[in-house]
Formats: sequence, C-alpha cells, structure tokens
Amino acid sequence: MPGDEQRAAERLAELRREISYHDHRYYVLDDPVISDAEYDLLFRELLELEQRYPHLVTPDSPSLRVGGEPLSAFAEVAHPFPMYGLDNVFDEEEFRAFDRKVKRYLQRNEEIAYFVEPKLDGLAVELIYERGLFTLGSTRGNGMVGEDITPQLRTVQAIPLRLRDVGRSLPEQLIVRGEVYLPRKGFAELNRQRLEEGEPLFANPRNAAAGSLRQLDPQITARRPLSFFVYGVGDASVVPVRRQSELMDYFADLGFRVNPFTRRCETLEEAAGWYHHLLEMRHQLEYEIDGIVVKVDSFDLQHRLGMTTRAPRWAVAWKFPATQVTTRMTGVEFQVGRTGAVTPVAILEPVNVNGVTVRRATLHNQDEIERKDLRIGDQVLVQRAGDVIPEVVKPIVDVRTGGEQEIHFPQKCPECGHRLVRPENEAVTRCVNPHCPAQRLRSLIYFAGRGGLDIEGLGWKNMEQLVAAGLVADIPDIFKLRVEDLEELEGWGRKSADNAVRAIRSSARTSLAKFIQALGIRYIGEVNAGLLARHFGSLEKIMAATLPELLEVEGIGAQAAASLVEYFSDPAVCSMIARLLDCGLEIVPERTEGQQLAGRVFLFTGTLSAMSRNEAKQRVKALGGQVVSAISRRVTDLVAGDKPGSKLTEAEKLGIRILGEEEFNRIIGQQGG
Ligand code: IVH
Repeated sequence: MPGDEQRAAERLAELRREISYHDHRYYVLDDPVISDAEYDLLFRELLELEQRYPHLVTPDSPSLRVGGEPLSAFAEVAHPFPMYGLDNVFDEEEFRAFDRKVKRYLQRNEEIAYFVEPKLDGLAVELIYERGLFTLGSTRGNGMVGEDITPQLRTVQAIPLRLRDVGRSLPEQLIVRGEVYLPRKGFAELNRQRLEEGEPLFANPRNAAAGSLRQLDPQITARRPLSFFVYGVGDASVVPVRRQSELMDYFADLGFRVNPFTRRCETLEEAAGWYHHLLEMRHQLEYEIDGIVVKVDSFDLQHRLGMTTRAPRWAVAWKFPATQVTTRMTGVEFQVGRTGAVTPVAILEPVNVNGVTVRRATLHNQDEIERKDLRIGDQVLVQRAGDVIPEVVKPIVDVRTGGEQEIHFPQKCPECGHRLVRPENEAVTRCVNPHCPAQRLRSLIYFAGRGGLDIEGLGWKNMEQLVAAGLVADIPDIFKLRVEDLEELEGWGRKSADNAVRAIRSSARTSLAKFIQALGIRYIGEVNAGLLARHFGSLEKIMAATLPELLEVEGIGAQAAASLVEYFSDPAVCSMIARLLDCGLEIVPERTEGQQLAGRVFLFTGTLSAMSRNEAKQRVKALGGQVVSAISRRVTDLVAGDKPGSKLTEAEKLGIRILGEEEFNRIIGQQGG
C-alpha cells in the first residue's frame, strides 16, 4: 500500500471508532459529548476519505448505517421502507454543487423545481395509518428498525388519530413521516418546572422532545406540549399526487399539520433566497430549526435519482451555522442584577457561535452549577439558546485532566459586600441591600433600555459611563442631564449630547403602562404593567393599591401583587417617584380606546397564554375590531397562539397577516387605554 493510502486507512479506522462512540453517546445514551457541528466534521472527513478510497470502505463503516442501535426498553418495529437520513451541505457553494449533481444525474440543463422546507430540530417519527386509522408509530432508530412509541405518539395532539374524509382518495396503508418537536415556549416552561422540582434541565428542545417521547409512561408524554409537522411519505406510489408540494396539500387535507414556511422554488436561486429568508427569521419561529431541507419536487425525478446507501440523491439538508460549540471555561464571575439576583457567569475562551464571539455565558444559579457539576478549567458545551443569551450546557467530563477547580458561590455580594440571602424553595441567591450600587446600575440600564423607556443614546455602555462619572445616581438624575454635562465626557461630542438630551426629553412623556414596566419591579413585565394601567388608570391609584385590590385585577397573580405592595411601600421609592414628576416626567393618557382596530377583522387559532380567547375577543372588539370564527378573504389578522390549527396554514396561503401572541399583546396593550 502506498504511504498516502496507508495513512488514509489508519485515519479511517480511527474515524470509524470515534464516530461509533459518538453515535452511541448520541443515539443510545442521549448524552452527546461533542457538538453536532463537530460530529458533522468527523463524518464529513470519513465520507471524503471513503470517496477517495472506495475500496477502503469496510462493512462496519458508520457511513453504511443510517443511525445507531435502538433502545431495548421499547418493542422494536421494522420500518416497511427504510428511513433514510440526509446528506448535509454547509454553504451556498456546496448547495450549488448538489444542484449540479442532480442535473448531471438526470442529464438535464434546465432548472429543477425544488421544494424547500425548514429543517425542524426535533425527532423523526413514522406513523402508519391503516384505512385512515393511526395504528403504529415509531422512532427512526437505526433507520431499519425503530422503537414502538404508538401510545406516546397518540398523546401528541397535532397527530391525527383518524384521517379526515374530505373526498381525497386514501390508500389502504399510508406511511407518514414527520418531526415531533417541542416549541421553545414549552421547552422553557418544562425547564422552569424542572428547575423548581430539582430535576436536571434539558440542554435543548430536541433533547427535551426525545426525552418526552421516550417515556415508558405515556401519561408523562401527554403533559409535554409536543407538536408535529409532517414532511414525507413512506411509499410515494400509493398517494394520489406526483409532487412534494402537492403532497403537503394532500396531507393538510387529511388533517395533518404541515409547516407554513415551505415553498416551491422554480430555480436554484429561489431556493437559496428562501434559505436566507428562513435564516433571518428563524428566531421569530416558535420552534427551533437548524437549516432547510431541499427536495426535488417531482416524485418522478425523485424516483429516477434514487438513493445512495445512506441518503436520497434527491434531497439535501442545508444546515445553518452551528449554535452549539465547545470551549474552555477559564473562570466564573458573579453578577448582581437589577433585582439583586446574583447570577454566576462563565468566563470562556472566546468562541464563535453563529457568527458572534462569545466570551461569557450564564450559569443560571448555584443549583445549576452543582447539577451540571461544572468546574473551572472544564471543557464545556456552549449554546446560544432561543434568543441571544449564551449558556453553558454541560462540562465534557471525559476530557477532564484532574486539575479542574470547584466553583465557590460567594457568601457576600461581590459588589457591595452585603450578605446574600437565598430564600427556602428558591433557586436564586440575592443581595438584599437596597443601596447596592450594582442593583442601581442595572435598574438604570433597564429603565432607559428596551424594556423601559427605550431612550436612544442611553444604552448599557453609556449608562455605565454616566454612573461612573457621577452624573447619574438614580432615575430622576437622567432627566436632569444637560448637554454641557454630556459633551465633556470621553467619546461624546456636541451632537451626541444634543441627541441624547432630546431623546430624554421626548421620553419624559410616557404612558402609564410603559412607566410601570420601566420601573423594573419584580414580576411586572409588559403584560402585567398593561393590566395594571388599564385597571387603575393612574399612577397614584396603583401606588396606593392594597394587596386585595391588586389581586382583584384579572391576570395579576399573588407573586406580582405582593411584589408591587413591597415595592411601593418603600419610602425611598415614593420619594424617587415624586422627584421624577418634579423633573418633568409626565404620564400621558394612551390613545383613547375605540377606533384603533377599526376596519381590521381578527381570527384566532391555538391557545393564548396571557388571556383566554374570550378576553382576547373582548379586547379586539373594545378597540373597534371585528372578530370572526372562520377563515375567509375578509380576515385581515390571524392571531396564532400555541398549537395553532389548520387556520394557520390556510391564512398563510391567503397571505393574511399572522400575529404571534406577543405581537398581538403588544397591539392590544399599546393601543389599549
Ligand atoms: S426529509 C429521505 N424533511 O432531518 C428524506 N427531514 O437527516 C428524509 N428533518 O432525521 C427526511 N425536518 O428528522 C426531512 N422537512 C424535513 C425535515 C427533516 C427535519 C430531520 C429528520 C431526519 C433528519 C435528516
């Protein structure tokens, strides 16, 4: 064997060992020790080497298998047709190469029509319907044999138990494939509960979905808000359609949930455009996607292209840049928040996550550090969850050197030295010194920031500077700032000082709800602030409200009510507010109710979390809008809550504006009186 080939053979043996180790960790133990991106790299190296030296492919190569071993606790189910995986591409050039390969294989020069779907980050399942009745559901397992999870899948409300009879022909046996997933909100809620109950947290929604489906007790699965999108058929020859795009319509007719962000693209360019569109908006979706799946739309062409041993030639997954990466944790800092909560923050060796350099990541609280058994010096898995805050998922215990050090949670506030308090049954440790400078700074930042009055030019950095310069010590000071004070500061000038003072002045006229929110009172966010403003109508009344009066406000809970009473009973708060009003802060009435939604026709689907559907309808009507119960072209706004029904797809098709719950709350909150 020539030297090069010899080295390739050795490397391949190493890669096979490594990949099967990680397959086992991932598929069987559900406890990966490297990130998906790193695993993908190993796998690609294997594929590339095998491509170069095809005779070095061994019968035990992971490239010949479609997955790992199924777990033994569930009954095994053989898939009538193998459940293939997908080949990945990671950038536009590789996607173009895929397109060229398809055209070459089909010996075609003209454009291929593709069907583009979000790549959902959940768990692939197969559902078998016999004469329209759901009879068997399974996980993908190793692609040939999966686990029988029929009772668990029955608990997923988005999975129809019987198909709708709408006059479309129905095969004797229909094999459906799709993705079970946990929406972000359900994931956050589940982890919140687990934190309270002292159970280990799930690293991401996919693990949570997998963990929820792999419950031997389906009743536990039933309590998890899992959902499902259909994306494929086991045997395309039995369905009365000839294209993936038509299949989705067919499935929708049968009562399945189909993803609204799919699109038939006539050209390669259009498909690439849709990739960028989904990449942009992925964070607005209520579930996680990790890329797109591009499929040749025509079943006939799919059939001609066929399969390799691992994956179809007619489809490819175009992955978004990784969101989970590994790096080293070099230290821990303890940060004091606006409400005094002390949050441990990991100091990391800088690492790129999704194009952003991450140097710090939250460790949440003391229990989390202990539960994850994190130590300083650990190699850790880091992710940018849902929104933007990076977090440490877990240490990679297998690569510890023994030199790692335990993390000691401080006994005293790292900012003011006051003793810290951790109430029983609470996960959070707090500094209870009302004069703690760190808490003040954070409150000021919050007050002027997005969650507050949103004063342009007074972001985090500038506020820190103003406090350090002694110009601002509390909220009223903000309104006393003069151009002369600001223009002297480092990095400022006449113009930026002018702009900031103008922004401060214009934000001094604010609505009651916004002002209450800006105060940053514990448990009083946008929704509660809006409820209070509407119910009481004036700052004086809110400040004077007693606990029973607050509890009467629909939507205000016990914690929020108690927190308000505590906040406003502090004489320092009352004098601060009095000074604020002296400095020119003016609470102006919000636009009067009655007409803002005139001419708009609302339709609701799914469950709202902040209010009942009835309340929501009342709000719309109170603002002059109309509410209807069925889809039609007259509808201007579809409000989609959790687990939206088929109205969502229909509305998408009609190009109707879709409002998520947050957006809807904002509209009725802001426009409300
Ligand atoms: S099609 C032969 N479509 O990605 C076609 N898969 O590696 C195989 N996935 O395990 C799958 N969203 O769980 C397809 N819209 C989508 C998908 C999707 C997510 C997952 C699926 C599979 C993996 C492929």
